[in-house]
Formats: sequence, structure tokens, C-alpha cells
Amino acid sequence: MEKQNDQSRMDRIVSLAKRRGFIFQSSEIYGGLNGFWDYGPLGVALKRNLKDAWWHDMVAGHDELAAPAGAPSEYEMAGLDCTIIMHPQVWKCSGHFDLFHDWMIDCRESKRRYRYDHLHGRWAGHRGKRAFVTTDQSGDEALPDTVAKAQKFFGLRAKQVEEIEWTGGLESLAGAIAAGGVSLGDVLGPDAAQPGTLTAPREFNLMFETRIGALAGDDEDRAFLRPETAQGIFVNFKNVLDTSRVRVPFGIAQIGKSFRNEITPRNFTFRSREFEQMEIEFFCRPADSAAWYRYWRDRRWKWYLDLGLTAGKLQLREHGADELSHYSVGTADIEYAFPFLAAGEFGELEGIAHRGDFDLRSHMEGKLVRRDGELVVETGADDKPRHRGSGKDLSYFDDVSRERFVPHVIEPSAGADRAVLAFLCDAYHEDEVPDEDGKPRSRTVMKLHPRLAPVKAAILPLVKKDGMPEVAIDLYRRLKPHMACQYDEKGSVGRRYARQDEAGTPWCLTIDGQTLADKTVTLRDRDTLVQSRVPVDEVVGMLRDRLR
Ligand code: GAP
Repeated sequence: MEKQNDQSRMDRIVSLAKRRGFIFQSSEIYGGLNGFWDYGPLGVALKRNLKDAWWHDMVAGHDELAAPAGAPSEYEMAGLDCTIIMHPQVWKCSGHFDLFHDWMIDCRESKRRYRYDHLHGRWAGHRGKRAFVTTDQSGDEALPDTVAKAQKFFGLRAKQVEEIEWTGGLESLAGAIAAGGVSLGDVLGPDAAQPGTLTAPREFNLMFETRIGALAGDDEDRAFLRPETAQGIFVNFKNVLDTSRVRVPFGIAQIGKSFRNEITPRNFTFRSREFEQMEIEFFCRPADSAAWYRYWRDRRWKWYLDLGLTAGKLQLREHGADELSHYSVGTADIEYAFPFLAAGEFGELEGIAHRGDFDLRSHMEGKLVRRDGELVVETGADDKPRHRGSGKDLSYFDDVSRERFVPHVIEPSAGADRAVLAFLCDAYHEDEVPDEDGKPRSRTVMKLHPRLAPVKAAILPLVKKDGMPEVAIDLYRRLKPHMACQYDEKGSVGRRYARQDEAGTPWCLTIDGQTLADKTVTLRDRDTLVQSRVPVDEVVGMLRDRLR
């Protein structure tokens, strides 16, 4: 039986994201651009809060004088902000130029392009006619999609669908072709009317290309938009070492845009063509690297939990040997059960990779390949390095132990947009609350962690008279220097609460008749709906404490 996903829940989240100004389609008035997204007023605040939380917790707020729980020792952290376009040799030595590709397949008939690994299919037959019917849908939509396609192909009415003979279950097209049971001539493409219209799979490099300079034209001017922020850190390793007093072990962190020309961007912002990464390259002694790998894996896992992601929807998954990247000696993914996935399936939020000395050596010596278990410089037919390294010495000299070595690297690599999407999905709740007359009213509420919430508090005068707005504006002005807050006097107080619930505002402060008498305000908690009275002079201190 097919597993169910929660597409309708996802649709409601996407609709709220648009309606309330979290996320818009890029260039929407021109019909949008597939794989590109803009953040609206609430979304930009949410994403900034998320990146600030990461930067504070990993870099700025890190105590360098004590070993955090689970860490093999104390360590230092430094920050960096590198360019998006870098020397093309960077991508040749990193392996992206040769290896950063997906397999794609085109349909000659429909002119559609698919990721080869996204196509699934099964054999269908009817009255002597047969085809391997494929779909590019995933989850619980895949199977019914093959039925609809087979029905159309055989020219059947709905009540004749039962006559189709199916052989075997849904399997990956790539797997079926590799196993030899299916050839491209048998395959009915997802949007084709006849079998045999799919081209042979071809490699497609995911890096966006551009040209540098006014005389752009020849190959020398060719450059790429970075597909990850990590390489900027590796090529600046020596600069950071030479200009700051960091000693191994230490980490360099960077937040910034990355670009990948994904063949099939999908699932809202999950797979975008332009996105932001939050990456750390952590440099350590080779002998300690396994312990640091475990530390960072567990530390990053706990970060998501501390910011409120539901534990039951998170999964920490160690990669099997066959899944490891060409450079990696160990990788774990932190994954989230996004609602667009089938039940039991998880999508990657962050990867924590043990990269050994692959990157620093590549940028010293030239592009490396693994041969007989060893990393060696890849050579061409002329026996020269296929992609020449910088030739700069990126080793580290430990002046206490008097040893020189190339540090090993642990890389926690998170996607800011995927994290925002996970927090949006996790925060989305529908429940019932009593309205002003005590009648149940359904509400949509974003239960975002207060650190992430775009607006921390809303200040609401119960009515627009009797001196209430004046007290409310005064409180707003006292609170504003300390946190994002909003003043709202429009509409019934119930409507105003509802607006703030959808925005994820954790606290509403209502100024009412009693405020004028005893200088207290009502503090309403978004999640528990408990309303308590707080002296107006204590509001700023209390909310600041809660945010800490
Ligand atoms: N430097 C290692 C690296 O880039 P990755 O697993 O390719 O590793 C790291 O990417 C993170 O970047 C992912 O876990 C994901 O959160 C985010 N990411 C990657 N591709 C993405 C895309 N097309 N759209 C949105 N986020 C993406």
C-alpha cells in the first residue's frame, strides 16, 4: 500500500505563507520563476532571526574558554563572508566542475525535462499492448498518476481501468533500465502520448555559469556562482590563520547565498535554485577528528530541538558507505518529516560531514581522487594534474607539539531556507479558541519559538478612546528598543489576536479599563491562551527575561 503524505496540510501552509507575507514566488507579477522565492515582511524577520540564532549560538556567543558539553576540548570560532563568484580553479580543485551534476532525461515529444532519479514506473498491459508507464510524482501521488497515464495511453474509460494488467510494483526507471528489464523504447514518459520519446540520460552540471568582464566570450572569462559557501572558507584558511590568533581546533563559519541549477526544483522552498547556507568548517587534529565529528553531529541535532522542532519529526541518519560523497569519511543528516513527503519519509535539513583533509589538500595539490583507498592527485593523459592546485602550503604548525600536519575537517552544513521551511511547517497548528462571546472559533496559529518569531509582542488598546491608545503607544515605545513589537488598534480585539496568532507572535499585551485604574496590562500567551495581569512597568523586563 502507498504511504500517505499530508499535501493538503502543506497547501494550507503555503497559502498562509503567501497570505501573511512570509514567502512569495519570485517575480510573481510576471508569472513567477521556478525555483526562486522571495521573503516578505514576516518571512524576512523569521529568516533573519534564524540566521542570527545560528550565528549567536555557533559563533558570537561561543565561550572559547571552556569545553562545551560533549566537546573533546575548548575551541575557537571565527567568521567569514566570501564572494559568490570565485576563481574558476576553486571549483575545478573542489571537484564541482567535474562531479557536481545530476542525470537528466528529456522528452522529445512533450519537451519536458526530468531528473532521471525522480522517474518511477511499472509495466502496464491491455489487450496485447504494453508499456512501462512512468511518473515524476512522488509519495502517494505516484501510483494513481501511473493509473491515469495508462488509462489515457490505452484509451480507456474510467470504468475500464480495472482491465489494465499491472506487472510488478512501482520501481525507479534508472534501476529498471540498469537491471535490463526495461529499454527506453518501452518507456511511456510522464507527459508523453506514445512510448519511446525519452532521450538517453545525460549529465547536467548544477553550477550556474556566468562571464566576467566586458569582453566576455572566451573560456578564460567563464566563472560560476558558488554552489556552496564551504569553498570560500577553505581557500581563506591560511588568511584566517595568519591574521587571527586561532589555533587548532577551531571553526570558521559563514552564512551566505548559494546557487544550484536544480533540474526539477520542487516542494516550495525545499529545493530552490537560489538559497542560503549556514556552514562551519571545523579544523582539528586528525587523531581527534572522530570525536569532533560526534560532537558536531550531536550539537547540531540539539540546536533544532532547543529551537522547538518536534522531536518525533526529526531524524538523525548516518549515511551508509555507498551514500558517502567522494570526499567524505563519515556523514550524518539531520532530517525532518516535511508534510509534502510520504509518511515515514524525511527530507534533509543539514548534513554533518567528516571531510578528512580532502579540501585543504585539493587546494594545495590539485583535484584529488580516491585510488586504492588513498587520495591522490588526479592526472590526465600527459601525467600532469588534471586540475592544478594553488601550490600554497595549507598545513598547520603546532608550536606547542612542534608538529606540522594538514588539519582534518568536520563540516556542519545547514540550509537556512530549509530550516525556515521546517520551522514554518512545525509551527503551523489549527485549533479552536473561544471568541469574545465564549463561542468556539477555529484559529490558525504559528507556534514559533519566541527567538524565531518575527514579532515578539503586540500592544493592543482594547478601544480607541478613554486614554487607552496613549498608554499603549507609551508601552510600545518602551518595548521597541528591546524587541520587534507591533502596535495595533484596528478591529475587534478577537480579530487582532487572530492576526497575531497567524504571524506567530508569542505575547499580546492588552490595555483595558483596568490598566487606567491599576497600571496593569493583560498578557495573553499565544500557546496556552492564559491571560495574566502584569504591572505595565514590569513588561519590558519580563519579556526580555523570557527571550533570554
Ligand atoms: N558544503 C556541503 C554542502 O553544500 P549539501 O548537502 O549539498 O552540502 C547543505 O548542502 C545544505 O544546504 C542541505 O542540507 C540543505 O539544507 C541546503 N540545500 C542544498 N541544496 C539546496 C537547495 N537546492 N535548496 C535549498 N536548500 C538546499
